[in-house]
Amino acid sequence: MNRLLLTKTIIFLAALVPLERLVWKAFHDGLGANPIEFITHSTGDWTLILILTTLSITPLRRITRQYWLIGVRRMIGLFAFFYGTLHFLTYIWLDKFFDVHEMMKDIAKRRFITVGFSAFVLLIPLALTSTAWSIRRLGGKNWQRLHRLIYLTAVLAVIHYTWLVKADLRKPIEYGIVLGILLLYRVGVWLSDKTKPPAIPAPARNSL
Ligand code: HEM
Repeated sequence: MNRLLLTKTIIFLAALVPLERLVWKAFHDGLGANPIEFITHSTGDWTLILILTTLSITPLRRITRQYWLIGVRRMIGLFAFFYGTLHFLTYIWLDKFFDVHEMMKDIAKRRFITVGFSAFVLLIPLALTSTAWSIRRLGGKNWQRLHRLIYLTAVLAVIHYTWLVKADLRKPIEYGIVLGILLLYRVGVWLSDKTKPPAIPAPARNSL
């Protein structure tokens, strides 16, 4: 088995563990006194962790020169969307019982729900255009431009978390620091690309 396939298989199995853990706990009375809260928190945490993991692939592959790692980014991003969908479904199904009116009121009124909802909505076009076919259809440049939305999604997700906690800000701050480092890395790369002197064309062979 080649190393990309092996890594993809390991990541695939590992990314299903949080879901298996939830299902196991649900069948063994392990979700605590407030199961909806437990599921919401677990799926929310994993959505954010996987978004940040997706963002860490580019620096990781450049720093380690393991360029094949790009091959796992799409799968991790899709798992982020998967857990984000479970998180949103928990809210609309278990919390709001599909009461669209109640949900709309909540999205408009509670600012942490507004930003969480925006973060999730921005993930949808990214998931829908994650295929090689979409890259061909949109063209590499447009596809890249669209997929920069992941930065906004990540920022909104950290704001969502910061605004929803009542007292202990430690966890959202930790996520914020990780995101800050990942964004700073990109700014650094962008600045160094911009300040690089233009490549000097090689002289023609028989010029004097
Ligand atoms: C990319 C999208 C999203 C991410 C990354 C995200 C992330 C999170 C995180 C990390 C938590 C806290 C988990 C913890 O306390 O350990 C959370 C809680 C929560 N999220 Fe999200 N979320 C997203 C979208 C949404 C959406 C679309 C909704 C609903 C419209 C939503 C509703 C909630 C609610 C109700 C809570 C629990 C609040 C509380 O305990 O008081 N989230 N989310």
